[in-house]
Amino acid sequence: MTATVIDGKAFAAKVREQVAEHVARLKEENGITPGLAVVLVGEDPASQVYVRSKGKQTVEVGMNSFEHKLDVDTSEEDLLALLDELNADPAVHGILVQLPLPGHLNEDLVINRIDPAKDVDGFHISNVGLLGTGQKSMVPCTPLGCLMMLRDHHGSLSGLNAVVVGRSNIVGKPMANLLLRDSCTVTIAHSRTKEIEALCKTADIVVAAVGRPEMVTGDWIKPGATVIDVGINRIDAPEKGEGKTRLVGDCHYESCAEVAGAITPVPGGVGPMTIACLLANTLTACCRAND
Ligand code: GUN
Repeated sequence: MTATVIDGKAFAAKVREQVAEHVARLKEENGITPGLAVVLVGEDPASQVYVRSKGKQTVEVGMNSFEHKLDVDTSEEDLLALLDELNADPAVHGILVQLPLPGHLNEDLVINRIDPAKDVDGFHISNVGLLGTGQKSMVPCTPLGCLMMLRDHHGSLSGLNAVVVGRSNIVGKPMANLLLRDSCTVTIAHSRTKEIEALCKTADIVVAAVGRPEMVTGDWIKPGATVIDVGINRIDAPEKGEGKTRLVGDCHYESCAEVAGAITPVPGGVGPMTIACLLANTLTACCRAND
């Protein structure tokens, strides 16, 4: 079998188009422009790339983008004061603090200072609790993007066996909750899971979010299963020349694609959907604020 490739890039472009249309209508009919504030502390190169990309795409869909770049040694007090200002600003509908934060800042304290209604990452403890109890919440962007692709491919997910590999707060746990909400039978696998290969082989859906390059191989996959690869890992690629690198997922693409029914590529799968969902969440937050 050769898997259908789930084109996250094209899907994300469609989501952005829909967001842009809705934003234009909001402006025309209500005079409201959704606004997203992104806070970056320090100069981590990968975070800088993500933040630039978020700002660019926010403007492209017609929203206001507010970027706050703070020194690496910014105090917790100053960061919390900025969040208080953004919480109180009616032009700001969504707030995202780029993670990871420098070591001297308490991530939980910072995230939980964001007004839950503006928490477009869905990381605030209130949103985590609402999602876990099946109530209306802001939903973390990466798992939301995965869910949208799964629903698009399968229609109903009801009754399917899903294995989520990885138990992070950002992807693994919220992904499991979302799949459960869609009536999947969900197992979370992690580094201590016994016979993880055999477990994955029982799954109709495998979501890999462990951050280990090409860990999931084709012999872990049930024929015809859907594989969602959340990983983005840069590895050496001597075949491309000395010092060259390439991006790979948490799944070994070629071997998984031989067995799976459908698979997301890296790059061009889950990655583009994450920012598209961030924009969708910002629009949702704006609409709820003005309801
Ligand atoms: N760092 C890596 N992924 C994310 C994300 O989804 N949101 C934030 N705020 N930081 C991240």
